Amino acid sequence: MENQLQICGPACLLRPVRVPSKLLLGPGPSNVSERVLRSMTSPMLGHLHPEFLKIMDDVKEGLKYLFQTEAQNVFCISGTGHAGMDSVMMNILEERDVILIAKNGIWGDRAADMAQRQGAVVRIIEKKPGEAFTPEEIEESLQKFRPKAFFIVHVESSTGVLQPLQEIGSICRKRVISDRRQPPRTFYFDYSHLANYWGCDNVARREGLAQLVEEGLKESWSRHKECADLLHRGIESLSLKLFVENLVWRAPTVTTIVVPQGINWKEASEHLMNKYKVEISGGLGPTAGKVWRIGLLGENCTKGNVEFVLRLLSDYLSNKDFYKSKL
Ligand SMILES: Cc1ncc(COP(=O)(O)O)c(C=O)c1O
Repeated sequence: MENQLQICGPACLLRPVRVPSKLLLGPGPSNVSERVLRSMTSPMLGHLHPEFLKIMDDVKEGLKYLFQTEAQNVFCISGTGHAGMDSVMMNILEERDVILIAKNGIWGDRAADMAQRQGAVVRIIEKKPGEAFTPEEIEESLQKFRPKAFFIVHVESSTGVLQPLQEIGSICRKRVISDRRQPPRTFYFDYSHLANYWGCDNVARREGLAQLVEEGLKESWSRHKECADLLHRGIESLSLKLFVENLVWRAPTVTTIVVPQGINWKEASEHLMNKYKVEISGGLGPTAGKVWRIGLLGENCTKGNVEFVLRLLSDYLSNKDFYKSKL
């Protein structure tokens, strides 16, 4: 009796899994290159093997290039973007520390939630979704609230706003962060441990960075800008409106398109997925139900993909009364 298992092996795991191939043109995740996928089938290495440590060193060099930084403390978090954000809050904030959050979309709310969980005092400055902050507004608020930490989003993917950061970066660099009083309330994400040792999927990350170095950072930026411009012009030529009105604030990586009256955003997204296996997303947070979001990130950022998604949208809309009335 003791050898009898109470839970049987689930039958679903005895059937083969079939993973369909999809073109992921949402704001993320997006497709990765064949080369990166292949590298994920590399043999396992031990986490202290010299080959693995060398890959970590290569990744570090690649990240310094990607972020154009000379900082020595460059390391990776094994986790999603949320894990990265959470780890920042856990490592920087302590009880009653003040954090200033610049909110113009859902990621400001998310940061406030994370900071509150660390016991921090959260102060918020706000802009309408679709707008960015000016350096003057940030400087004034930093003087007013004197926070220990400041949070702002570079690409607010819920609205498609690109926040200019250069001047804001200089303002922040003039301020000094004080040391922690206590160790952070996390073991796995403690930056002092991670700075010593980090990562577990570095072969694929190394391949992605190697591709970036081969293409060149500036060339990669130009490719993203050219494809975004092509997409923006194409969207407007379909009589659709871009959500971010100010040209300067339009993110090249995530484009937000106003869903016209009489069109159901979800039906359109489902149509593209069911018929063509192409993903475009709906809005998020303040833009929920109001926009579509098209992501052109990394491997997916090609003129071919832009033309393809424009053709699918045009085909879909051409059967709708809204669109016929515009012709
Ligand atoms: C600006 C921004 N921050 C954080 C995240 C969270 O990333 P993840 O979904 O990988 O946890 C996202 C995801 O879309 C994002 O766009």
